[in-house]
Amino acid sequence: MPLSPAEIDELRKSVLGWYDRSARDLPWRRTRDPYRIWLSEVMLQQTRVEAVKPYYARFLRRFPTVEALAAAPEDEVLAAWSGLGYYARARALHRAARQVVERWGGRLPADAAALGSLPGFGPYTVAAVGSIAFGLPLAAVDGNVARVLSRWLCLEGDARAPARMNELRRIASALLPPDRAGDWNQALMELGATLCLPRRPACLVCPARAHCLARKRGREHAIPPPRQARERPVLRLAAALVIGEGGVLLARRPPVGLFASLWELPSVELAEGDDPREALSRFLGPEVGEELGRTEQVLTHRELRTVVHRLRPVGPIQVREPYVEFRWVDPAGKLPGGLSSAGRKALAAAGIRLGPKGR
Ligand code: ADE
Repeated sequence: MPLSPAEIDELRKSVLGWYDRSARDLPWRRTRDPYRIWLSEVMLQQTRVEAVKPYYARFLRRFPTVEALAAAPEDEVLAAWSGLGYYARARALHRAARQVVERWGGRLPADAAALGSLPGFGPYTVAAVGSIAFGLPLAAVDGNVARVLSRWLCLEGDARAPARMNELRRIASALLPPDRAGDWNQALMELGATLCLPRRPACLVCPARAHCLARKRGREHAIPPPRQARERPVLRLAAALVIGEGGVLLARRPPVGLFASLWELPSVELAEGDDPREALSRFLGPEVGEELGRTEQVLTHRELRTVVHRLRPVGPIQVREPYVEFRWVDPAGKLPGGLSSAGRKALAAAGIRLGPKGR
Protein backbone atom coordinates (compact mmCIF):
# COMPACT_ATOMS: atom_id res chain seq x y z
CA MET A 1 0.00 0.00 0.00
CA PRO A 2 1.79 3.16 -1.17
CA LEU A 3 -0.28 5.41 1.12
CA SER A 4 0.78 5.94 4.74
CA PRO A 5 -1.75 5.55 7.59
CA ALA A 6 -1.86 9.35 7.93
CA GLU A 7 -2.56 9.76 4.21
CA ILE A 8 -5.29 7.10 4.34
CA ASP A 9 -6.86 8.97 7.22
CA GLU A 10 -6.85 12.26 5.28
CA LEU A 11 -8.20 10.57 2.15
CA ARG A 12 -11.09 9.04 4.12
CA LYS A 13 -12.00 12.37 5.71
CA SER A 14 -11.85 14.26 2.47
CA VAL A 15 -13.88 11.74 0.45
CA LEU A 16 -16.51 11.18 3.15
CA GLY A 17 -16.83 14.93 3.69
CA TRP A 18 -17.41 15.39 -0.04
CA TYR A 19 -19.98 12.57 -0.02
CA ASP A 20 -21.82 14.09 2.95
CA ARG A 21 -22.04 17.43 1.14
CA SER A 22 -22.78 16.30 -2.38
CA ALA A 23 -24.23 12.79 -2.53
CA ARG A 24 -27.13 12.59 -4.94
CA ASP A 25 -30.51 12.22 -3.30
CA LEU A 26 -31.49 8.75 -4.55
CA PRO A 27 -34.56 6.76 -3.43
CA TRP A 28 -32.50 3.89 -1.99
CA ARG A 29 -30.48 6.32 0.10
CA ARG A 30 -33.64 7.35 1.95
CA THR A 31 -34.32 3.94 3.41
CA ARG A 32 -32.79 1.58 5.92
CA ASP A 33 -34.92 -1.34 4.80
CA PRO A 34 -32.44 -4.08 3.74
CA TYR A 35 -34.87 -5.40 1.12
CA ARG A 36 -35.07 -1.99 -0.57
CA ILE A 37 -31.31 -1.58 -0.50
CA TRP A 38 -30.85 -5.09 -1.89
CA LEU A 39 -33.32 -4.42 -4.70
CA SER A 40 -31.49 -1.20 -5.64
CA GLU A 41 -28.15 -2.99 -5.82
CA VAL A 42 -29.59 -5.70 -8.07
CA MET A 43 -31.25 -3.19 -10.38
CA LEU A 44 -28.13 -1.00 -10.53
CA GLN A 45 -25.98 -3.84 -11.84
CA GLN A 46 -25.49 -3.08 -15.54
CA THR A 47 -28.14 -0.34 -15.49
CA ARG A 48 -27.80 3.43 -15.05
CA VAL A 49 -29.25 5.25 -12.04
CA GLU A 50 -31.71 7.31 -14.11
CA ALA A 51 -33.03 4.21 -15.89
CA VAL A 52 -33.45 2.36 -12.60
CA LYS A 53 -35.47 5.00 -10.71
CA PRO A 54 -38.92 4.46 -12.29
CA TYR A 55 -38.57 0.67 -12.22
CA TYR A 56 -37.49 0.75 -8.60
CA ALA A 57 -40.56 2.74 -7.52
CA ARG A 58 -42.96 0.60 -9.55
CA PHE A 59 -41.43 -2.68 -8.43
CA LEU A 60 -41.73 -1.69 -4.78
CA ARG A 61 -45.34 -0.66 -5.20
CA ARG A 62 -46.06 -4.10 -6.62
CA PHE A 63 -43.78 -6.04 -4.23
CA PRO A 64 -43.36 -3.90 -1.09
CA THR A 65 -41.80 -6.66 1.03
CA VAL A 66 -39.66 -9.76 0.68
CA GLU A 67 -42.78 -11.80 1.50
CA ALA A 68 -44.79 -10.18 -1.30
CA LEU A 69 -41.99 -10.88 -3.76
CA ALA A 70 -41.55 -14.47 -2.59
CA ALA A 71 -45.28 -15.15 -2.90
CA ALA A 72 -45.53 -13.87 -6.48
CA PRO A 73 -45.35 -16.19 -9.50
CA GLU A 74 -42.15 -15.78 -11.51
CA ASP A 75 -44.03 -14.43 -14.53
CA GLU A 76 -45.28 -11.47 -12.54
CA VAL A 77 -41.79 -10.69 -11.32
CA LEU A 78 -40.46 -10.85 -14.88
CA ALA A 79 -43.33 -8.65 -16.08
CA ALA A 80 -42.40 -6.01 -13.47
CA TRP A 81 -38.77 -6.30 -14.61
CA SER A 82 -39.71 -6.09 -18.28
CA GLY A 83 -37.55 -3.49 -20.01
CA LEU A 84 -34.65 -3.52 -17.52
CA GLY A 85 -32.96 -6.44 -19.29
CA TYR A 86 -30.61 -9.05 -17.85
CA TYR A 87 -33.52 -11.09 -16.54
CA ALA A 88 -31.20 -13.56 -14.79
CA ARG A 89 -30.97 -10.85 -12.10
CA ALA A 90 -34.73 -10.87 -11.57
CA ARG A 91 -34.93 -14.65 -11.44
CA ALA A 92 -32.10 -14.84 -8.88
CA LEU A 93 -33.70 -12.04 -6.81
CA HIS A 94 -36.98 -13.94 -6.78
CA ARG A 95 -35.37 -17.26 -5.81
CA ALA A 96 -33.36 -15.50 -3.10
CA ALA A 97 -36.54 -13.84 -1.73
CA ARG A 98 -38.12 -17.29 -1.38
CA GLN A 99 -35.07 -18.56 0.50
CA VAL A 100 -35.03 -15.50 2.77
CA VAL A 101 -38.65 -16.23 3.72
CA GLU A 102 -38.04 -19.96 4.22
CA ARG A 103 -34.71 -19.74 6.02
CA TRP A 104 -34.95 -16.46 7.94
CA GLY A 105 -38.63 -15.58 8.17
CA GLY A 106 -38.36 -12.81 5.57
CA ARG A 107 -35.39 -10.94 7.09
CA LEU A 108 -32.14 -10.70 5.18
CA PRO A 109 -29.29 -12.02 7.35
CA ALA A 110 -26.71 -9.48 8.56
CA ASP A 111 -23.87 -11.86 7.83
CA ALA A 112 -21.53 -12.06 4.85
CA ALA A 113 -21.41 -15.87 4.58
CA ALA A 114 -25.19 -16.18 4.84
CA LEU A 115 -25.73 -13.45 2.23
CA GLY A 116 -23.19 -15.11 -0.04
CA SER A 117 -25.17 -18.35 0.05
CA LEU A 118 -28.17 -16.68 -1.65
CA PRO A 119 -28.77 -16.76 -5.42
CA GLY A 120 -27.43 -13.66 -7.17
CA PHE A 121 -25.09 -12.63 -4.34
CA GLY A 122 -21.50 -12.46 -5.63
CA PRO A 123 -18.70 -10.61 -3.80
CA TYR A 124 -19.95 -7.20 -4.97
CA THR A 125 -23.57 -7.67 -3.88
CA VAL A 126 -22.61 -9.24 -0.54
CA ALA A 127 -20.34 -6.26 0.21
CA ALA A 128 -22.75 -3.59 -1.06
CA VAL A 129 -25.82 -4.92 0.76
CA GLY A 130 -23.82 -6.00 3.82
CA SER A 131 -22.20 -2.58 4.25
CA ILE A 132 -25.10 -0.30 3.27
CA ALA A 133 -27.92 -2.21 4.99
CA PHE A 134 -26.06 -3.65 8.00
CA GLY A 135 -22.84 -1.64 8.38
CA LEU A 136 -20.65 -4.72 7.86
CA PRO A 137 -17.02 -3.70 7.12
CA LEU A 138 -16.94 -5.10 3.56
CA ALA A 139 -15.46 -3.31 0.54
CA ALA A 140 -17.65 -3.31 -2.61
CA VAL A 141 -15.73 -3.07 -5.88
CA ASP A 142 -17.77 -2.59 -9.05
CA GLY A 143 -16.55 -1.19 -12.38
CA ASN A 144 -16.69 2.44 -11.23
CA VAL A 145 -14.86 1.72 -7.99
CA ALA A 146 -12.22 -0.32 -9.87
CA ARG A 147 -11.48 2.73 -12.03
CA VAL A 148 -11.25 5.08 -9.03
CA LEU A 149 -8.88 2.77 -7.13
CA SER A 150 -6.75 2.06 -10.21
CA ARG A 151 -6.20 5.79 -10.54
CA TRP A 152 -5.54 6.43 -6.87
CA LEU A 153 -2.77 3.80 -6.91
CA CYS A 154 -1.72 4.41 -10.53
CA LEU A 155 -2.17 0.76 -11.53
CA GLU A 156 -1.51 0.29 -15.24
CA GLY A 157 -3.33 -2.49 -17.16
CA ASP A 158 -6.91 -3.72 -17.41
CA ALA A 159 -8.77 -2.70 -14.23
CA ARG A 160 -11.34 -5.49 -14.69
CA ALA A 161 -9.02 -8.47 -15.20
CA PRO A 162 -9.84 -11.11 -12.53
CA ALA A 163 -6.40 -11.00 -10.86
CA ARG A 164 -6.50 -7.19 -10.79
CA MET A 165 -10.03 -7.22 -9.33
CA ASN A 166 -8.75 -9.43 -6.48
CA GLU A 167 -5.91 -6.99 -5.88
CA LEU A 168 -8.34 -4.07 -5.93
CA ARG A 169 -10.59 -5.81 -3.38
CA ARG A 170 -7.60 -6.17 -1.04
CA ILE A 171 -6.70 -2.50 -1.53
CA ALA A 172 -10.32 -1.43 -1.03
CA SER A 173 -10.47 -3.42 2.23
CA ALA A 174 -7.35 -1.67 3.51
CA LEU A 175 -8.81 1.77 2.74
CA LEU A 176 -12.30 1.05 4.12
CA PRO A 177 -13.20 3.04 7.26
CA PRO A 178 -14.83 0.30 9.35
CA ASP A 179 -17.29 2.63 11.08
CA ARG A 180 -18.74 4.06 7.82
CA ALA A 181 -18.35 1.20 5.36
CA GLY A 182 -21.68 1.72 3.58
CA ASP A 183 -21.14 5.44 3.07
CA TRP A 184 -17.55 4.86 1.98
CA ASN A 185 -18.55 2.28 -0.63
CA GLN A 186 -21.25 4.57 -1.95
CA ALA A 187 -18.85 7.53 -1.94
CA LEU A 188 -16.45 5.63 -4.21
CA MET A 189 -19.32 4.64 -6.51
CA GLU A 190 -20.45 8.25 -6.52
CA LEU A 191 -16.96 9.52 -7.37
CA GLY A 192 -16.76 7.06 -10.26
CA ALA A 193 -20.21 8.02 -11.52
CA THR A 194 -19.90 11.81 -11.22
CA LEU A 195 -16.22 12.98 -11.17
CA CYS A 196 -13.74 10.19 -11.83
CA LEU A 197 -15.24 9.56 -15.27
CA PRO A 198 -13.66 7.16 -17.76
CA ARG A 199 -12.54 9.74 -20.31
CA ARG A 200 -12.79 13.13 -18.64
CA PRO A 201 -11.93 12.89 -14.96
CA ALA A 202 -12.81 16.14 -13.15
CA CYS A 203 -9.63 16.19 -11.07
CA LEU A 204 -9.83 19.91 -10.22
CA VAL A 205 -12.87 19.39 -8.02
CA CYS A 206 -12.05 15.87 -6.82
CA PRO A 207 -11.79 15.36 -3.06
CA ALA A 208 -9.03 12.76 -3.62
CA ARG A 209 -6.80 14.90 -5.83
CA ALA A 210 -4.11 15.41 -3.17
CA HIS A 211 -3.63 11.63 -2.86
CA CYS A 212 -4.24 10.37 -6.38
CA LEU A 213 -1.03 8.88 -7.79
CA ALA A 214 -2.30 8.77 -11.40
CA ARG A 215 -2.98 12.50 -11.20
CA LYS A 216 0.40 13.23 -9.64
CA ARG A 217 2.10 11.32 -12.47
CA GLY A 218 -0.12 12.73 -15.23
CA ARG A 219 -1.59 9.28 -15.96
CA GLU A 220 -5.25 9.99 -15.09
CA HIS A 221 -6.40 9.88 -18.73
CA ALA A 222 -4.47 6.71 -19.52
CA ILE A 223 -5.63 4.67 -16.51
CA PRO A 224 -7.47 2.43 -16.91
CA PRO A 225 -6.98 1.71 -20.63
CA PRO A 226 -10.22 1.46 -22.65
CA ARG A 227 -11.54 -2.07 -22.84
CA GLN A 228 -11.28 -3.82 -26.18
CA ALA A 229 -14.59 -3.88 -28.04
CA ARG A 230 -15.34 -7.54 -28.49
CA GLU A 231 -16.25 -9.24 -31.71
CA ARG A 232 -19.72 -10.68 -31.38
CA PRO A 233 -21.31 -13.20 -33.68
CA VAL A 234 -24.31 -11.70 -35.48
CA LEU A 235 -27.65 -13.50 -35.26
CA ARG A 236 -30.09 -12.51 -38.01
CA LEU A 237 -33.78 -12.96 -37.29
CA ALA A 238 -37.08 -12.42 -39.06
CA ALA A 239 -40.02 -11.57 -36.78
CA ALA A 240 -43.72 -11.69 -37.65
CA LEU A 241 -46.36 -9.19 -36.64
CA VAL A 242 -49.60 -11.17 -36.76
CA ILE A 243 -52.71 -9.27 -35.75
CA GLY A 244 -55.87 -11.18 -34.93
CA GLU A 245 -59.07 -10.57 -33.04
CA GLY A 246 -57.42 -10.94 -29.67
CA GLY A 247 -54.55 -8.55 -30.43
CA VAL A 248 -51.00 -9.39 -31.41
CA LEU A 249 -49.59 -12.91 -31.52
CA LEU A 250 -46.83 -13.28 -28.91
CA ALA A 251 -44.62 -16.31 -28.47
CA ARG A 252 -43.02 -17.58 -25.30
CA ARG A 253 -39.42 -18.75 -25.38
CA PRO A 254 -38.33 -22.06 -23.81
CA PRO A 255 -37.19 -22.03 -20.17
CA VAL A 256 -33.47 -22.29 -20.97
CA GLY A 257 -31.20 -20.30 -23.26
CA LEU A 258 -31.40 -16.77 -24.59
CA PHE A 259 -34.35 -14.74 -23.18
CA ALA A 260 -35.57 -17.82 -21.29
CA SER A 261 -39.38 -17.91 -20.68
CA LEU A 262 -39.85 -14.37 -22.02
CA TRP A 263 -42.38 -13.27 -24.63
CA GLU A 264 -41.71 -11.75 -28.05
CA LEU A 265 -42.98 -11.60 -31.61
CA PRO A 266 -42.60 -15.09 -33.13
CA SER A 267 -39.23 -15.03 -34.87
CA VAL A 268 -37.12 -17.36 -36.90
CA GLU A 269 -33.35 -17.40 -37.18
CA LEU A 270 -32.00 -16.74 -40.66
CA ALA A 271 -29.11 -18.72 -42.05
CA GLU A 272 -26.58 -17.05 -44.31
CA GLY A 273 -28.33 -16.01 -47.52
CA ASP A 274 -31.88 -16.79 -46.26
CA ASP A 275 -34.64 -14.50 -47.46
CA PRO A 276 -36.67 -13.29 -44.44
CA ARG A 277 -40.02 -13.60 -46.21
CA GLU A 278 -39.36 -17.15 -47.31
CA ALA A 279 -38.09 -18.13 -43.87
CA LEU A 280 -41.16 -16.64 -42.18
CA SER A 281 -43.44 -18.29 -44.69
CA ARG A 282 -41.88 -21.69 -43.94
CA PHE A 283 -42.08 -20.99 -40.21
CA LEU A 284 -45.64 -19.71 -39.81
CA GLY A 285 -47.59 -19.65 -43.06
CA PRO A 286 -47.53 -18.37 -46.61
CA GLU A 287 -49.00 -14.86 -46.42
CA VAL A 288 -45.98 -12.76 -45.52
CA GLY A 289 -46.61 -9.07 -46.09
CA GLU A 290 -44.58 -5.90 -46.14
CA GLU A 291 -41.54 -5.08 -44.06
CA LEU A 292 -42.49 -2.99 -41.00
CA GLY A 293 -39.10 -2.15 -39.58
CA ARG A 294 -35.68 -3.33 -38.47
CA THR A 295 -33.94 -3.46 -35.12
CA GLU A 296 -30.42 -4.03 -33.89
CA GLN A 297 -29.39 -5.06 -30.48
CA VAL A 298 -26.02 -5.71 -28.89
CA LEU A 299 -26.04 -8.34 -26.15
CA THR A 300 -23.12 -9.45 -24.03
CA HIS A 301 -22.13 -12.32 -26.30
CA ARG A 302 -23.83 -11.61 -29.62
CA GLU A 303 -25.54 -9.07 -31.75
CA LEU A 304 -29.12 -9.48 -32.98
CA ARG A 305 -30.42 -7.97 -36.20
CA THR A 306 -34.14 -8.39 -36.75
CA VAL A 307 -36.39 -7.53 -39.65
CA VAL A 308 -40.12 -7.40 -38.85
CA HIS A 309 -42.73 -8.36 -41.44
CA ARG A 310 -46.49 -8.31 -41.30
CA LEU A 311 -47.96 -11.78 -41.64
CA ARG A 312 -51.55 -12.74 -42.36
CA PRO A 313 -52.36 -16.19 -41.07
CA VAL A 314 -54.18 -18.70 -43.20
CA GLY A 315 -56.07 -20.79 -40.68
CA PRO A 316 -55.23 -21.28 -37.00
CA ILE A 317 -51.60 -20.94 -35.96
CA GLN A 318 -50.12 -23.76 -33.89
CA VAL A 319 -47.18 -23.15 -31.61
CA ARG A 320 -43.85 -23.81 -33.37
CA GLU A 321 -40.51 -24.87 -31.94
CA PRO A 322 -38.52 -23.58 -30.17
CA TYR A 323 -41.42 -21.63 -28.62
CA VAL A 324 -43.45 -23.26 -25.86
CA GLU A 325 -46.62 -21.19 -26.18
CA PHE A 326 -48.37 -18.77 -28.56
CA ARG A 327 -50.94 -16.33 -27.21
CA TRP A 328 -53.01 -13.46 -28.56
CA VAL A 329 -52.25 -10.43 -26.42
CA ASP A 330 -53.70 -6.94 -26.29
CA PRO A 331 -50.51 -4.84 -26.23
CA ALA A 332 -52.34 -1.95 -24.55
CA GLY A 333 -53.31 -4.21 -21.61
CA LYS A 334 -51.58 -6.50 -19.16
CA LEU A 335 -48.81 -8.61 -20.64
CA PRO A 336 -48.63 -12.34 -19.87
CA GLY A 337 -45.07 -12.06 -18.49
CA GLY A 338 -41.75 -10.39 -19.25
CA LEU A 339 -41.00 -9.27 -22.78
CA SER A 340 -37.55 -9.98 -24.13
CA SER A 341 -35.70 -6.78 -24.95
CA ALA A 342 -35.53 -7.96 -28.57
CA GLY A 343 -39.30 -8.47 -28.50
CA ARG A 344 -39.84 -5.01 -27.10
CA LYS A 345 -37.71 -3.46 -29.83
CA ALA A 346 -39.38 -5.47 -32.58
CA LEU A 347 -42.84 -4.39 -31.36
CA ALA A 348 -41.70 -0.76 -31.37
CA ALA A 349 -40.21 -1.15 -34.86
CA ALA A 350 -43.55 -2.52 -36.04
CA GLY A 351 -45.30 0.56 -34.64
CA ILE A 352 -47.03 -1.27 -31.76
CA ARG A 353 -47.28 0.76 -28.57
CA LEU A 354 -47.39 -0.92 -25.21
CA GLY A 355 -49.94 0.18 -22.63
CA PRO A 356 -48.95 1.51 -19.20
CA LYS A 357 -48.74 -2.00 -17.73
CA GLY A 358 -46.22 -3.18 -20.30
CA ARG A 359 -44.00 -0.15 -20.32
N1 ADE B 1 -24.46 1.81 -8.13
C1 ADE B 1 -24.46 0.67 -7.44
N2 ADE B 1 -24.88 0.87 -6.18
C2 ADE B 1 -25.17 2.19 -6.09
C3 ADE B 1 -25.66 3.02 -5.07
N3 ADE B 1 -25.94 2.50 -3.87
N4 ADE B 1 -25.82 4.32 -5.34
C4 ADE B 1 -25.54 4.80 -6.56
N5 ADE B 1 -25.08 4.09 -7.55
C5 ADE B 1 -24.90 2.78 -7.34
